[in-house]
Amino acid sequence: MMTSPSFDFDSVIDRRHGDSLKWNKYAGRDVLPLWVADMDFAAPPAVLAALEKRLAQGCLGYAVPWPALVDSVLAHLQRQYAWRVEREWLVWLPGLVTGINVACRAVDGAVLTATPVYPPFLSAPRLSGRQLLSVPLRLANGGWGWDFAALEAAITPETRLLLLCHPHNPVGRAWRDDELAELSAFCQRHDLLICSDEIHCDLILDEGRQHRPLATIDGEMARRCITLMAPSKTYNIPGLGCSFAVIADEALRSRFTGVMRGIVPDVNVFGLTAAQAAYGESDDWHAALIGVLRGNRDRVEAAVAAMPGLAMSHVEATYLAWIDARGIKVADPVAFFEAAGVGLSRGDDFGLPGWVRLNFGCPRATLDAALERMAKALALHGGQV
Ligand SMILES: Cc1ncc(COP(=O)(O)O)c(C=O)c1O
Repeated sequence: MMTSPSFDFDSVIDRRHGDSLKWNKYAGRDVLPLWVADMDFAAPPAVLAALEKRLAQGCLGYAVPWPALVDSVLAHLQRQYAWRVEREWLVWLPGLVTGINVACRAVDGAVLTATPVYPPFLSAPRLSGRQLLSVPLRLANGGWGWDFAALEAAITPETRLLLLCHPHNPVGRAWRDDELAELSAFCQRHDLLICSDEIHCDLILDEGRQHRPLATIDGEMARRCITLMAPSKTYNIPGLGCSFAVIADEALRSRFTGVMRGIVPDVNVFGLTAAQAAYGESDDWHAALIGVLRGNRDRVEAAVAAMPGLAMSHVEATYLAWIDARGIKVADPVAFFEAAGVGLSRGDDFGLPGWVRLNFGCPRATLDAALERMAKALALHGGQV
């Protein structure tokens, strides 16, 4: 009888004395870092084996994406999303944030997005010399959604690009088809291009839900879309710097690659090697990861519901919880939780002060210890009021 392989998502890897951005922030302090979006799990065994094999070859010259790698990406897109992508639509990038900035520079006009949102959405337009227009997402009946009236009110004739985060960091929504269709109609009405950051697309946690690339909503959307994807979040290889854009429209693709020319370097050989093994050989690991993240998500939701002064809505996708901390009535909730030994991301950076983001992509022991520290600090805090 075949047994399914088991993977280790429980061991706590000591990342404290090395190169980890996440852990080095609190070097020498007893703070559990649940901030930047990388996970504390080892990458899939197939990815590690492929990297070891590649390293053993010894020669680390310039790399070009090879046919079997491209095949593994295209097969993944076809298998997961029934999305038929042509080889030439792929543009390899050393980082997805690079892609967001290149997209802003590829348009001649203002850029529209909705907050709260991953901070580079707010900085990229400014860094690119483009005006940023932003509207708040709407929180209604405990769930986040688009405020189409606010989008209509904010848009100007100079607006050329919508930046979409799908699934959304930090609010954890996997946008439904009807929401995507409404966004698509809005973009067509106003003749906008869309840069759809789908880096979290393989991290849908709700059972029965599937990611739907925005570009597959209709033919017109496919023509207007720059879709950004990467294996980095799902397979926990963000340090390898490998991502790609899918741009079906030839003219748009050549504008995009024109901006990159001479500035954006090629993807390194380890990033490409890891991508092939991630997309081509790591489905079992991925399925196991989703089970672990679902369990962690449920623990966070239950713990936060029991913590006085905190509130959050359901996380459909990503390993990030977006928590309203205004109820604890402290000037700086991040400093409050750091003092309690937990490092969270600051809501201000996402455009929404008073909120914090918690990364639950870590072994259960780390998560439980962090949630306990938070609960204890809030209990003490409550006692002092
Ligand atoms: C929505 C989103 N886009 C992009 C990135 C980062 O991409 P990269 O490291 O490839 O620049 C992140 C990382 O957290 C993210 O959440």
